[in-house]
Amino acid sequence: MKIVAKQGSCADAPAGYVRVAFTDKPKGTKRFVEKNGIETLEIGIGTEAATHRQFIILCRSIIATAKAHKVKKIALELPDLTDERAQIAAENFEMANYEFNHFKTKPKEGWAEVEEVLLYCSSLKSIEAAIKKGQEIGKGVNACRTLANTPGGDITPSTLAKAAKEAVKGLPVKVTTLGEKEMAKLGMGALLGVAKGSSEKPTFTIMEYNGSKDAPIVLVGKGVTFDSGGLNLKPSNGIYEMHMDMSGAASVIHAVTLAAKLKLKKHVIGLVPAVENMPGNNAYRPGDVLKSLSGKTIEVINTDAEGRLILADALTYAKRLKPAVVLDVATLTGAALSALGLYASALLTRDDALANRVSVCGEASGDYVWRLPLWEEYEDLIKGTFADVANIASGAGGRYGGAIEGGVFLWQFAKELECPWAHIDIAPRMTAAPKEELSKGAAGAPVRLLLRFVEQWTK
Ligand code: BES
Ligand code: MN
Ligand code: ZN
Repeated sequence: MKIVAKQGSCADAPAGYVRVAFTDKPKGTKRFVEKNGIETLEIGIGTEAATHRQFIILCRSIIATAKAHKVKKIALELPDLTDERAQIAAENFEMANYEFNHFKTKPKEGWAEVEEVLLYCSSLKSIEAAIKKGQEIGKGVNACRTLANTPGGDITPSTLAKAAKEAVKGLPVKVTTLGEKEMAKLGMGALLGVAKGSSEKPTFTIMEYNGSKDAPIVLVGKGVTFDSGGLNLKPSNGIYEMHMDMSGAASVIHAVTLAAKLKLKKHVIGLVPAVENMPGNNAYRPGDVLKSLSGKTIEVINTDAEGRLILADALTYAKRLKPAVVLDVATLTGAALSALGLYASALLTRDDALANRVSVCGEASGDYVWRLPLWEEYEDLIKGTFADVANIASGAGGRYGGAIEGGVFLWQFAKELECPWAHIDIAPRMTAAPKEELSKGAAGAPVRLLLRFVEQWTK
């Protein structure tokens, strides 16, 4: 989509552009009218100034409405257009214009997409740069959505590693992929245990962008390219969409890519552990004990709690990179959805300053997060009977607080890191939710949050 900043008023727009006009009708009402012979889309914004959240949805609804009416070119003036808002607008125009139609036959009239937006404002000064940056970010989010939306038969651990290489083509990002043998040599027994049930070989991809000489910000993304549950096979309604269980990995790949594209002066390393969780004849079993890279042994109670196993080894691997901070991103638990519903990811960390930082980036970017506790009390949940830790709770209280249990498991490995660490359970944000004006499928969370976090990171 072309977004062009123009000085002046939207009344100056040339013929052929549908004008978008804001009225004080109730928020969200939309209608097409003729005004002085010019087709105009009226959007109600009420009388009170839109909050940041409402502004994000407003930007998307402009594009969504235009698309629904097959309007290709629009002209508008956004209220109070600061640089920050211009960037947010551009991000969300791109996000709202996206649909995953890779496997669909193109209709004769083409896809319903907005081709051009004329954005009128009083001064062009820095707005153009803000729009350009916003578009880049929006496209990065959409690339993450495409990767996540692509079926499990097409995205396997090896094609996910290829996708990481492909994403940063031409950019100063060093990509290294470890194969099964190298991982075995290192001793990544937890990751390799999960991988056993699939004929697809696991991969572990390291993406390094050296925008500064400081200690790196390490981002770890869960890359389960399909989660069948393993021998603890998921039921029909739970297995659907599990090709998106690599959404954390997709977000990390595209956050690192964006950091490089935007030439941020930061040192960022993305880690992408990737496996397929399948119940093949060599699959790991409930009762198996895995030896993780950390040396800790893990008792497998449930083969469907696989994400934490691959992340455990990735978090231990992160230690050798001497990070300044580590964030992991994972579609880790259905319980995070039970706790928070569809509009926020769960944030778990022992570090209050980091929690605050991530939350602020969440609010500002639109990738909202909400914190859950990671108290010592919960550590008893995952004590192992025959190994150091168990991959799920079995004793009293085991039925409750599954998102915390997942976080507490990861903490057993993250506590060895000598830096702040936070876990973001993005299961609630894996797919787009009602009323957020995004097309069906992957939501692309939390690419925008991660990018902001990297951009604003200081020790
Ligand atoms: N990938 C799933 C979690 C998930 C569920 C993500 C729904 C997105 C939507 C994860 O690997 C899983 O299976 N978790 C189990 C944990 C349980 C076995 C302790 C779950 O949530 O049921
Ligand atoms: Mn699972
Ligand atoms: Zn999973």
